[in-house]
Amino acid sequence: MFNFFHKTKQPIKLWFTTDIHCHVIPGVDDGSPNVDTSVELIEALGELGIKRIIATPHVTQATFENSPETIKAPLTILKEKLVDANIDIPITNAAEYRIDDLFDQCRASGVLMTYPDNYILIENSFIQEPWNLEQIIFDLQVKGYKPIFAHPERYLYYHNRVNRYKELHDSGLLFQINLLSLAGYHGKAERKMAEYFIDNNMVDFIGTDTHGHRHIDAFRNYLISRDAERDMSRLAPMIKNDIFN
Ligand SMILES: [Fe+2]
Repeated sequence: MFNFFHKTKQPIKLWFTTDIHCHVIPGVDDGSPNVDTSVELIEALGELGIKRIIATPHVTQATFENSPETIKAPLTILKEKLVDANIDIPITNAAEYRIDDLFDQCRASGVLMTYPDNYILIENSFIQEPWNLEQIIFDLQVKGYKPIFAHPERYLYYHNRVNRYKELHDSGLLFQINLLSLAGYHGKAERKMAEYFIDNNMVDFIGTDTHGHRHIDAFRNYLISRDAERDMSRLAPMIKNDIFN
């Protein structure tokens, strides 16, 4: 029987249903190493409230040189396993493009793994801003792409120059913050910067950036916290994840 006075510590559900950033395609990057793990991660994301997934394997020169060819077979196997396991979470893929020489080559070839409607996920190096970031954003926009900046709060070299964030966002670069940052997983500074984006209405998308079970555990802990409830009420009207539904 339902007891009104009994407070459980059940996690709240995620307030977005499409995960637009995660590494759950098996064996293609530093995310899920095998298909069984992928199925476990997707099932766990489903329990947290995710209903569909656009996976974003890394495309990074020298380390993860993914392309439609490298992703096709493991994604097909994963989809079959999800059917076998009765997990009704549709999964497609885009990619997380590091801004490097390989990205230049991909852009030149015209073969880019995008979200619907030509949205594309890009990330900086964690060490320094790419020298030609503005030019790349502009070139993408001229060609009809809509660049989404993966986890801007994680680039620590911007933290003492928040005006740079403002310039980038004003140039039309859309910001995708990590659920992991809100959960405090990356660190206090990243959580604080994500809050700054929320305060300044600079969040366009949210992604889980799930690579493994350690991240699922972080989400579960976060989703029973007061922070999660407060973040949810502030972010829900701001984010556009559902345009990919
Ligand atoms: Fe990622």
